[in-house]
Parts: sequence; C-alpha cells; structure tokens
Amino acid sequence: MSRQRKLKHEAERYDAVKEFSVADPKAMKGRWGEMFPGKDLYLEMGCGRGQFLAKQALRHPENAYIGTECRLSVALRAMELIRAGGNDEVHRNLLPGERREDFEARVPAKEPLSNATVIAELIGDPRDYFADGELSGVYANFSDPWPKSRHEKRRMTSKSYLEAYRAITRPGGFLEIKTDNDDLFRFTLEMINELHEGFETRRTDTVRMPGEPAEEGAADGRSYVIEELSYDLHRSNYAAKDVTTQYEEKFMAKGVPIKYVRVRF
Ligand SMILES: C[S@@+](CC[C@H](N)C(=O)[O-])C[C@H]1O[C@@H](n2cnc3c(N)ncnc32)[C@H](O)[C@@H]1O
Repeated sequence: MSRQRKLKHEAERYDAVKEFSVADPKAMKGRWGEMFPGKDLYLEMGCGRGQFLAKQALRHPENAYIGTECRLSVALRAMELIRAGGNDEVHRNLLPGERREDFEARVPAKEPLSNATVIAELIGDPRDYFADGELSGVYANFSDPWPKSRHEKRRMTSKSYLEAYRAITRPGGFLEIKTDNDDLFRFTLEMINELHEGFETRRTDTVRMPGEPAEEGAADGRSYVIEELSYDLHRSNYAAKDVTTQYEEKFMAKGVPIKYVRVRF
C-alpha cells in the first residue's frame, strides 16, 4: 500500500471510531466525571492496542478507564477495540488481504464499551489533562524503557511522572506498574523510594513554628507506600488477580518474569 493510500485508509478508520477518543482532552481537566458520571476514574498510560483497558472496562462497569496512546495507528486499534465491545477478534482475525469493511461485517458485533476512551496524544505532563485528585488509580504497563540515561526524563516512571500521578490521584488511590525490563524496574523502585523518603524526612525532621504552614506535600501526609511487589508476578500471590496486557502475554510466552509494583498514595 502506498504511503498516501495508507494515510487515507488510516484517516477513514479514524473517522469511523473517533467517538471512542477524546477530541480535546486538556479541556476535560477536572470534568472527566461529566463524561463518566458516577464512575471512579482510572488512567492507563501508554495503553497500546487497548487489551488491558478493554478487559478492565468489561470487568468493572462501575469504573471508567481512560487510556493514552501517542501513536495514532496504535490508538486506532484501541478505539476499534472499544467500539467492538472489547471483542479482541478485531485484533486477531483480519485475514490476509481482507478489507476492513468485510472483516467488520464478519466479526460478531457487540455493544461498544461505554466506560472506556482513548486520549490519542503524547502525554508529557498528566497534570495538563487531570485535576488534582481526579483519579482513583493509574496504570503504567510495559512502558518504553528508554535505556539511555540522557532519556531518563522520558521514562513513564521518572520522578516527574510519579509526582504527577500522585497529584492527580485521590488520597488512598494507587499506581500499578508492570514491566519485563530489569533496569527500568530497578530505576522505578529507586525513584519511588527517593520520593517516599523525601516525605518521611520532611515529616520527621521539619520543625515548624506554631502557625507556620507545612511544607508542600507533607501537609496531607501522603506518600509513596509500596503495597505489593514481585519480581516474578506470575509465580507470586498476585498472579490470580492479574489482568494481562498484550506485551505481557508476549513476554510470558518467552518465559520472561514480569516485574510488578503497586504504590499507595
Ligand atoms: C511498549 S508499549 C506497551 C503497550 C501496552 N501497555 C501493553 O502492555 O501491551 C508502550 C506504548 O506506550 C506508548 N507511549 C509511550 N510514551 C507515551 C506517552 N508519553 N504518552 C502516550 N503514549 C505513550 C507507545 O506508543 C506504546 O504504544
């Protein structure tokens, strides 16, 4: 397929599913509850083709799931999965040479998921999209490792991202991270521990005069408490409750242990 035809094809596909993404996501800051009234809100950073997002949305109709995906061709797959009611046949069964229209007529139709959507953008600072405490939880599954140290800030578990996740999550909410990558996991745990220690130090060492305001962050007593941790998720007590992602299944098939941490804010 020529590049132009591919782009045209992509634009047509996008048009067909754009209602399953958010047109102006920054304008939704503080207003996501209007889109999903009465639901607890969860963010998945880098949702890929949306398998995890759709499975969670199907399992938990009481919640709403917002996935972010910066590559449009991949975000499209997530949007198509939402439209297909989480039926991941839409990802698997395109026969060689089959036209999408024919495929769509063949795959059994289901109701689109009403509790999931996609932000098809590169998220630099999640605080541009979500107000303080707006979310109940954040997921970052198999995020890009960015191994070069000069790219450290791009890692979705760098300090600035972790601080942003804490800010946009309500007190008592959580962050869950899964990865196949040992170096990224080590880095992530270091960042979590440093941020947590920052809180501990501030809480115990700071002497305040009566009436003097607490330092930022210390006042609410919230920190980064590691609640669950495993270097081999699928051989741990947490295996039974795990909801797998596309990348996770790929790594499991190769026998790579999945690293997992859950942080309580
Ligand atoms: C390695 S894939 C993992 C996909 C999925 N979470 C899974 O486990 O199967 C990471 C995805 O995150 C997306 N991504 C990376 N940085 C991003 C950012 N800052 N904002 C939104 N998406 C991002 C990439 O395009 C890619 O599709």
